[in-house]
Amino acid sequence: MRFGLLTGGGDCPGLNAALRAAVYRAERAGHQSVGFLDGWKGVRDGLTRPLQASDVSEALLHGGTILGTSRTNPFRVPADAERVLATIHRLGIDALIAIGGDDTLSAAREFYRRGGRVVGVPKTMDNDVAGTDWTFGFDSASTVAVDALTRLRDTAGSHHRAIVLEVMGRHAGWVALATGLAGGADATLIPEETYDEAELRAKVRRAVERRGFALVVASEGIELSDRKGTAGGKDEFGHELLGERGVGEELARRIEKATGVEARSASIGHIQRGGPPTLFDRILATRLGAKAVDLALTGAFGTVAVLRGAEIIGIPLDEALKAPKTVPIDWRDLLHTFDA
Ligand code: F6P
Repeated sequence: MRFGLLTGGGDCPGLNAALRAAVYRAERAGHQSVGFLDGWKGVRDGLTRPLQASDVSEALLHGGTILGTSRTNPFRVPADAERVLATIHRLGIDALIAIGGDDTLSAAREFYRRGGRVVGVPKTMDNDVAGTDWTFGFDSASTVAVDALTRLRDTAGSHHRAIVLEVMGRHAGWVALATGLAGGADATLIPEETYDEAELRAKVRRAVERRGFALVVASEGIELSDRKGTAGGKDEFGHELLGERGVGEELARRIEKATGVEARSASIGHIQRGGPPTLFDRILATRLGAKAVDLALTGAFGTVAVLRGAEIIGIPLDEALKAPKTVPIDWRDLLHTFDA
């Protein structure tokens, strides 16, 4: 068989590990692989690079994606969809492995509905893909965010300040939750919950009274009271570019004004998405990449390799594309146990 591999959507640590695993697994079973450049754009435009085990042997260690990525949606325009199918036919691709989040996987489903032979691998630092317990990229990104909060703790403590750390996560608060929990924040704001100014002020005051400083983690996707809407543009899948709203900065301004506690903010933005994958992400990405090839070899197209408990299994693309997975009540309850 000839496998085509692509990575789409926002990059995250672990993509190269998944590619490496898929290429090794295919090669070991006597099959070839080719990489499509920049996600679905590469399939649409026929942009490829060879992918052999020797090309990916070191990839495990590195963040980003050696194939490049984009947020191209090739099924928006009928002519583009035809170009996708033509490329697959022309290059003799027997099975496509699409590694990505909701958007990349929804394009994979569209491809499958048009007769394409595809298996998905979920990834995203946002951890919001339904049907899988965790996505790779999340552990690495959250580890960076916790490190940032730990550093902010030193400077907040020295200056007796409140510091707000803004983290990514789009409309799911998983990264903020992990950062707040593992980094010991005094308040953590996530998009799943209505944000309350008075409550936040009280938490900041209590933390400052108790130990002289306060740490707040805010997810980029929260709605600030009395300020709605987007300041930035949208991507090809229609998603707002939330980082441009600057909720962390605005929160710090409001905290200082309302409490008199000197406040600062930090936004680690795309720093969260880079760097080598953590142990957890390397192993998860490796298992998923290998499983995707196994699924394709058994003819299980239209599926996604996912983590369920300790097992890696294949589930239908439809199941992984249900509503995005947000933070449920029990996690939120645990999070707020540690609020100031
Ligand atoms: O989907 C992952 C993500 O990192 C989101 O958390 C964030 O809102 C978005 O990507 C940022 O996208 P871009 O890389 O286009 O700025």
